Amino acid sequence: GIAIVIAAGGCTSGRNSSADRPSAQASSRAPSFSPGAPGAGDPYFPTYGNGGYDVGGYDLALRFDPGTGRLSGTATITATATQDLSRFNLDLAHLTASEVTVDGRGATSQAEGNELVVTPAVGLLKDRPFTVVVRYAGVPQPLANEALGEGGWFRTADGAFAVGQPESASTWFPVNDHPSDKATFKLAMTVPDGLEVLSNGVPGRRTNAAGWTTWTWSEGAPMASYLATVAIGQYRITTGTHDGKPMIVAVPASMPAGDPAAKSLARTGEVTDFLATQFGPYPFDANGGVVVADDRLDFALETQTRPVYGDTWFDDGENTSVVAHELGHQWYGNSLALERWQDIWLNEGFATYAEWLWREHEGQATVAESFDRTYTKFKDWSQPTGKPGPDGIFDAAVYERGAMTLYALRRAMGDTAFAGLLKTWAAQQRDGNVTTTEFIAAAQQAAGGTDLDPVFQAWLFGTTKPPRP
Ligand code: ARG
Ligand code: ZN
Repeated sequence: GIAIVIAAGGCTSGRNSSADRPSAQASSRAPSFSPGAPGAGDPYFPTYGNGGYDVGGYDLALRFDPGTGRLSGTATITATATQDLSRFNLDLAHLTASEVTVDGRGATSQAEGNELVVTPAVGLLKDRPFTVVVRYAGVPQPLANEALGEGGWFRTADGAFAVGQPESASTWFPVNDHPSDKATFKLAMTVPDGLEVLSNGVPGRRTNAAGWTTWTWSEGAPMASYLATVAIGQYRITTGTHDGKPMIVAVPASMPAGDPAAKSLARTGEVTDFLATQFGPYPFDANGGVVVADDRLDFALETQTRPVYGDTWFDDGENTSVVAHELGHQWYGNSLALERWQDIWLNEGFATYAEWLWREHEGQATVAESFDRTYTKFKDWSQPTGKPGPDGIFDAAVYERGAMTLYALRRAMGDTAFAGLLKTWAAQQRDGNVTTTEFIAAAQQAAGGTDLDPVFQAWLFGTTKPPRP
């Protein structure tokens, strides 16, 4: 949506009598209200997210009944208008809103596919904060994505879990579901006594009433919406501290303590410490991980502060590579989130490189050897790392060739400058959103006089095998 701003200079013009104009908010211009766009404008996924506002925080108070699969509760969303807004969309899939208020006043809402269209009683002025409260309920279901697999809320025998990329959050709360709009996240989840609830960030108070327990979690650093997670069920939770921060690891209660998954996740602190020597200080206030045993979860996801791991990662024994990968994302992908999905190599190339670093630290293979093995066996050079296509965001061109791109960059600029770049990139863009263009500029600055353009052209955008760096 485009807001047309009319400077009303001095301002006693007749426009002020518009019925839409909020009387309490003095302004030196006449507002021009228009609807927020139904998408955030991502070229790969145009319908994801919405325009016209920027969320600051989500505060969810929910109840889940495992017997019926029903989720119900209230989402309180604090946001700021980025244009004069007559109405705006939230993403909400398969769930029904029963009552919506904006700044305490009743608002009109209407479901349109997987969007909730909210029309406040009065227009919302650009740059002003507002609060939306949505009361909603339903039986959540995951979102299908033919090319990328399903994501979102999955019901299980004893509970549920919510995990997915590039979409997930809209299956369990009303949200601006695109990583460009990061926000803080608070969850109070009420479940029957005897079940555990894991989510992002720091644990808060736990209370009981009439056979139900409310668990609270809060993530205070800005978070992309697909990084929100919850796992409800019978889990064995290990609570500790690491570096003075809560370290919370959970595995299915039925999993033996000596299971390779439990042993791998027990090394989360150790892996974090190593990665901090490479990438700079760990960016969040909590850490940990959750193992979910469910056939539908055949991947791991770097959900903020608390990655979720499908248990198949550990079928062949202890696997700390996947732990290094998901923890690497806490810097690259989470603290530094994408502005658009096309640039996902900034997440996956770096996380794969984190695996290489960890393997070297473990004495298994040097980074040069990992590069070599990957370079030798890599087959399809026709798909550019920096432009993998919407169906290709999880392809080897993104993960493996992304990590090879970083190694080629390291060879071009030298070990010392490259090691510095990894840290300054993470420090300067902490809690932000990043693009490939910004990374290229940061690399060029770190490289001094060496022209990196040929490296980026060949490794990110070329369609043939680049020479060995
Ligand atoms: N970002 C995840 C990882 O690095 C991969 C998620 C794959 N998602 C999917 N829908 N298959 O491990
Ligand atoms: Zn990854």
